[in-house]
Amino acid sequence: MKLVKFKDPLPIPPVLKPKWKLGDYTYYEVIMKETKQSLHSDLPNTTIWGYDGIYPGPTIEVESGERVFVQWKNELPDKHLFPIDHTVHGAEKEKPDVRTVVHLHGGRTEPASDGYPDAWFTHGFAEKGPFFEKEIYEYGNQQNARTLWYHDHAIGLTRLNIYAGLAGFYLIKDRHERSLNLPSGPFDVPLLLQDRTLHDDGSLSYPNQPENNSSGIIPSIITSFFGDMIVVNGKVWPFFEVEPRKYRFRLLNGANARFFRLTLDSGQLFFQIGTDSGFLERPIGISSLLLAPAERLDLIIDFSNMDGKSVILNNDARTHFPIGEPANPETTGVVMEFRVTKPLSSIDTSMIPAYLRQINWLQANSGQKQRYLELSEEKDQFGRSLFLLDKKMWDDPITENPRHSSIERWNFINTDGDDHPIHIHLVQFQILERRPFDVNYYKKTKQLRYTGPGIHSEISERGWKDTVRCPPGHVTSIIIPFFPFTGQYVWHCHMLEHEDYEMMRPYQILPPNE
Ligand code: C2O
Ligand code: CU
Repeated sequence: MKLVKFKDPLPIPPVLKPKWKLGDYTYYEVIMKETKQSLHSDLPNTTIWGYDGIYPGPTIEVESGERVFVQWKNELPDKHLFPIDHTVHGAEKEKPDVRTVVHLHGGRTEPASDGYPDAWFTHGFAEKGPFFEKEIYEYGNQQNARTLWYHDHAIGLTRLNIYAGLAGFYLIKDRHERSLNLPSGPFDVPLLLQDRTLHDDGSLSYPNQPENNSSGIIPSIITSFFGDMIVVNGKVWPFFEVEPRKYRFRLLNGANARFFRLTLDSGQLFFQIGTDSGFLERPIGISSLLLAPAERLDLIIDFSNMDGKSVILNNDARTHFPIGEPANPETTGVVMEFRVTKPLSSIDTSMIPAYLRQINWLQANSGQKQRYLELSEEKDQFGRSLFLLDKKMWDDPITENPRHSSIERWNFINTDGDDHPIHIHLVQFQILERRPFDVNYYKKTKQLRYTGPGIHSEISERGWKDTVRCPPGHVTSIIIPFFPFTGQYVWHCHMLEHEDYEMMRPYQILPPNE
């Protein structure tokens, strides 16, 4: 299907209003509902699942340190929008098809409110998973300004629930951020980048089996979903009318598996100011930005003196990153259009500050525990591909058990051909290096033979992160302080088809010096 690009204006998700607010105590309710929404004006409306009945969900804006309580309610129908592969772990036939649980991605959240995949619940909390602890989640927001997002995390269904529309922004603000005089208010715009495939009747299309299905299982999970159109904030290839001034954009890759490498066709630079977990030390001017699933980028684009011009945001990341097909310049190679057609409403006094914040750089030392964790492709009992972390399944006993207040180094040894974006719940970390190694030698001997020196992270990654790209043939090393909670969390690949099919592991933070 050919859809006209830049036909619909970019929607901006509304900011959610609390049910009540008392001192530093705020209470929200969010109801997950099935509704219809227009994804492109030339198509009939699309049935989606939305938090508060909209896709993307409403943006939750909180102040650093604010105590926030949210009751996430499931009022979805009993029938799923997409075919469910019951051979996938956690999605067995005996379980209800429609199960949800909400994770605040990048949040420093207590275990009972973190959205553990087995803490799912159904409509009206009628049925609950074995790890369900409470109906009202608490978020302490003990973090400085940053862009988080909330999304579904139900075991065996995450790829389908997020694809149906269950994702939204969660912004933590603080005084320091306000003192920086960045573009704000209507000039601070969240952009959720995703890909989708739509049927002619407007409905969302998700394959019920891989292209070459030799397993004979239908429906069967696929190894990664790639849509043929780009959707921003729930609209297919939208346009956004801007004033000739600076804008701040918070980019989030909320796609199931697609990477984006973004450029502006005007050739101008992005001024990146932040990563997944808050500000960089200094802004950087950069012409191309890579964004894996779940990564965020905080940036400023300056449209001053560009009255009347239009600027297209393009994507040239390969589909199956980094080894697949080049992006199609007619379809997935295009993201959206900015039109500098609005008159300047007031003088632009916002800034791109020369200095943003101090970052405490962590140093590797011999006192830190190191873990070496392989990312590998395997075959399941039906001959289908699946990906594992350290060759272990979701149900295997916990092996990652750092102590509270300790600093560990985790080294992801990627023997597969995909770049896997690895996310660890609760914590933020820094990237130490990526070092190429001899994959075949490793597979034979389990010994690391490096084939070159360690490579520094990209300049766009030099800040705190919660998701890290682990390119093939490299050992990606990160350094992680574990705090402020003890208890059970998860770490996983954020390509959702991988996550749903065993590329996820529980981990446990143990009390200090026990
Ligand atoms: Cu964005 Cu475990 O998730
Ligand atoms: Cu993966």
